[in-house]
Amino acid sequence: MEQLAIFGGTPVRETPIFYGRQCIEEDDIAAVAEALRGDLITCGPKVAALEEKLCQITGAKYAVVVANGTAALHLAALAAGFQEGDEVIVSSITFAASSNCVLYCGAKPVFADIRPDTYNIDPEAVEKLITPRTKGIVAVDFTGQAAEYDALGEICRKHGLVLIEDAAHAIGTKYRGQPVGSIADMTAFSFHPVKTVTGGEGGAITTNDEGLYRRLMRVRTHGITRVREEMAHPTDAGWYNEQVELGYNYRMTDFQAALLLSQLGKLSRFAARRREIVRRYDAAFSRMPELVVQREIPEADTVRHLYVLRLNPEKLTCDRRQFFDALYAENTCPQVHYLPVYWHSYYEKLGYEKGLCPNAEKYYAEALSIPLYYGLTDEDVEDVIRAVRKVVAYYRR
Ligand SMILES: Cc1ncc(COP(=O)(O)O)c(C=O)c1O
Repeated sequence: MEQLAIFGGTPVRETPIFYGRQCIEEDDIAAVAEALRGDLITCGPKVAALEEKLCQITGAKYAVVVANGTAALHLAALAAGFQEGDEVIVSSITFAASSNCVLYCGAKPVFADIRPDTYNIDPEAVEKLITPRTKGIVAVDFTGQAAEYDALGEICRKHGLVLIEDAAHAIGTKYRGQPVGSIADMTAFSFHPVKTVTGGEGGAITTNDEGLYRRLMRVRTHGITRVREEMAHPTDAGWYNEQVELGYNYRMTDFQAALLLSQLGKLSRFAARRREIVRRYDAAFSRMPELVVQREIPEADTVRHLYVLRLNPEKLTCDRRQFFDALYAENTCPQVHYLPVYWHSYYEKLGYEKGLCPNAEKYYAEALSIPLYYGLTDEDVEDVIRAVRKVVAYYRR
């Protein structure tokens, strides 16, 4: 048997590949340079064009572009009206921003368990957590796969809840043929460099609700409005604007918007390559009893942001830590997405205890994400597959 690199063997690759990476091409750079020569370099024509493009892609009526995905979630939670005394149900396996946005508003995140096979929020678990204080749900399209919006939408209608979709992973994904961004009351996107398209940083909220849209536009810029009907003291003075509530500066620059516009023009190419890599990984790993691959629901047409492999502890002698370190030493560097949010020490201090979501906790003990991004060559993908097989062979029970 081949010796693992971690024990002094030769690594599968000489140079490391990481789990995610942006793809910036010459025309992206040219688009940024052009925007920098413009008259307005923040919240100018490129931001407006990006909002229009996001509406086209998602089918939503309105889009509000912001500084990053966390800002998008914060504004969505504000616009939803979450406040002290409210409870908001959030998926337990996600980046902390999905629930931090609830805390920013003074409300309480209540963590729902995940499905053991899709790793998305389990609507049956959600239903059991509803109380008279519940005001909304933050559902995450984890790895890019849409959550179960038929069931979640039904729960929200029945209990009068606001549905926020955290689609940070999921630009380009569809659910029952409908693009994410036009399904929930509000959908938040992130354009961080590991995502399918990037603005360096960047985020957006889409909605079909005009009232929510107006509020989002206001709180993006300090809560200041130029819309006369929204003012307490309207005048027709040309300079006049009025702060009518407390907002933030979450604006995006025009050069980031230009980069994103250029990147979104490539979304179908980027998505196709990601799908192809997922197919190869699935073909390589789905019949290995030592590994478990994520189940895709037939309702979703998924653009995958992450490829999660799960270890079968009954068939392997190692734990996730050993598997992770061994793959890392082979220079096919994985990552783990995510710690159950309430395990973070900050949440622990807020009083959340281990044991809340058993599926999420078991998932966390067994999962790691292997490299998945547009720029991986076929050889890179083969290297990752070889490295995983090598580590599995070493630790097979
Ligand atoms: C599920 C999820 N939600 C929200 C965010 C926050 O996005 P950003 O990093 O753009 O603030 C991320 C970012 O990684 C994420 O993965």
